[in-house]
Amino acid sequence: MKSISILILAAGKGTRMKSSLPKVLHRVGGVPMVERVVRAGDAMKASSLCVIVGHGGSAVSAHVKGVSPKAAFAEQKVLNGSGGAVRQALAWLKKQKGDVIVTCGDAPLIRRETFAALVAQHRKQKNAATVLTTHMPNPFGYGRIVRSYDSAVERIVEHLDASEDERKLTEINSGTYCFDARALSRALPKLKNNNAKKEFYLTDTLEILRTGGGRIGAVVCADHNEILGINSRAELALAESIANHRKCAELMAAGVTIIDPDDTYVQDTVKVGPDTILFPQTFLLGTTEIGSGCKIGPWSHISDCLIENDVTVKASFADASRIRSGSKIGPFSHIRPKSDLGPNVHMGNFSETKNSRLADGSKLNHLSYLGDATVGKFVNIGAGTITCNYDGIQKSPTQIQDHAFIGSNTNLIAPVRVGSHAVIGAGSSISKDVPDWSLAVERASTKVIKDWARAKFSKKGKKR
Ligand code: UD1
Ligand code: CA
Repeated sequence: MKSISILILAAGKGTRMKSSLPKVLHRVGGVPMVERVVRAGDAMKASSLCVIVGHGGSAVSAHVKGVSPKAAFAEQKVLNGSGGAVRQALAWLKKQKGDVIVTCGDAPLIRRETFAALVAQHRKQKNAATVLTTHMPNPFGYGRIVRSYDSAVERIVEHLDASEDERKLTEINSGTYCFDARALSRALPKLKNNNAKKEFYLTDTLEILRTGGGRIGAVVCADHNEILGINSRAELALAESIANHRKCAELMAAGVTIIDPDDTYVQDTVKVGPDTILFPQTFLLGTTEIGSGCKIGPWSHISDCLIENDVTVKASFADASRIRSGSKIGPFSHIRPKSDLGPNVHMGNFSETKNSRLADGSKLNHLSYLGDATVGKFVNIGAGTITCNYDGIQKSPTQIQDHAFIGSNTNLIAPVRVGSHAVIGAGSSISKDVPDWSLAVERASTKVIKDWARAKFSKKGKKR
C-alpha cells in the first residue's frame, strides 16, 4: 500500500477576519481550524504532515506542534499564490514516496471520510491528481471545473480568469486534492503566473499533469457545506453553526434527546450518553463527558466536566469539575474548578463551590460558598453558610465530617474542622475545631424585653 502524507496550506493573511489572531487559529466547535484539519489528517494515518505557514507563522506552528509533534513546516514569505505556497514545501514533497493530500487550513468542516473517499478514488483510477469538487448554488469567486465532452476533468479555471460561459459552471474546486507526490514535485517548477492575479496557481498543475500524460480525476462532495472555506467572521459563524448541527445530529442518532438543536451548543470534543435530555440554551464545552439519563439545562454552561448518570443540572455554570450520579444541581449554582460533588448531592440556589469535595447525599441548597472544603456524607449545610478560606494572604482548608449539621448563616473560619454528627448553631462564626457529636454556637444570647415597643410608640402617639 502506498503511503499518504498531508500538506496543509495556511500562509494566507486572513485580512477579512480583522483579527490579531492568525485566521487558521480561530476556533470552530472549540477547536482551532487548522487543528481540525490536522486531526482529520491524523485519522488518515498519514506518514508525514507538513504545514505551510506565513502570516503569524510561529503561533500557528507552535499550535500544530502541540497537536502533532512530528509535523514539518515550510515558510512562505511572499504570498504569491497557492502554487507558490506548495513550492515552499518542495524539499519535503520530494521525500514523500506515495500520495499527498493537499488541503487548506481554513476549511474546517472536511470530514475524514471525505479525505478517505478522495484517496480511494485516486488510487483506484491510478490518477496523477484527483480534485475534490462540489456543486455550489452560488459558485461566484471559486475556481470552476472544466470537463471535456467525455466528462473527464481538463483543468480548473479561476473565477477572475474565466470566460462568461465558464463562469456559468457550478462545479467548483474545493481547494483539496490528492496528488501523486512525485508527479506534483515535477509539475510545480513548471507553473507560470500569467493570470489575472499574477500568482502561481496550484490549480494549474492539473493541466500540466494531464498534458504530460497523467490522468486527472474528481470526487464530487455531495454536501457543499463540507468544503466551506473561512474568510470572514460571518463565515466563521456559519461554520460554527454547521459543526454544531452535525454534532447534535450525531448525538441524537446515538440516543440523546435535544429539545432544540438550534438553541443548544455542543462542541465536537464533548461526549453525552443515551437517554440524556439537553434542554435549550445549554452549552457543553471542551472535554465534558455526560453519562446517561441526565437532564441538562435549560440555561446551563458546562466546560471540561465529568458528569455521571442521572444527574440534573438546571440554569448553572460548571467548570473543570466532577458531578457524580444522582446529584441535583441548580437552579443558579456556580461550580468552579476542582469541585467533586456527589453521588446524590443537592446543590441549589445561588450556591458556589471551588476546589471542594461534597460527598454522598450532602446538601448545599441555598446561598452558600464552599472553598477548599472537604465535606463528608449526609451533611446538611444551612442557607448562607460561608467557608472563610482566604485571609488575604493564604487559602486554608475546611473539613466537615459525616452527618454534621451546619446551621444557617454560619461562617467557618478556616483552617477549621467540624467533627461527625456535630451541630453548629445558626449565625455562628466558628474559628475553633468542633469535636464529634458536639454543639458549637457563637452568638450573643437573645434578649426579650416585654412591651418595649408598646412603650416606645405610644409615647409618640403613633398608631401601629
Ligand atoms: C482557491 C483555488 C480555487 C478554489 C478555492 C476554494 C487556487 C489558485 N484557487 O482560490 O480554485 O475554488 O481556493 O476555496 O488555488 N495560500 C497560501 N499562500 C498563498 C496563497 C494562498 O498559503 O500565497 C493558501 C491560503 O491560506 C488558503 C489556500 O491557499 O488556505 C487558498 O488560497 P486562497 O487565496 O484562499 O485561494 P482562492 O482564491 O480562494
Ligand atoms: Ca479561499
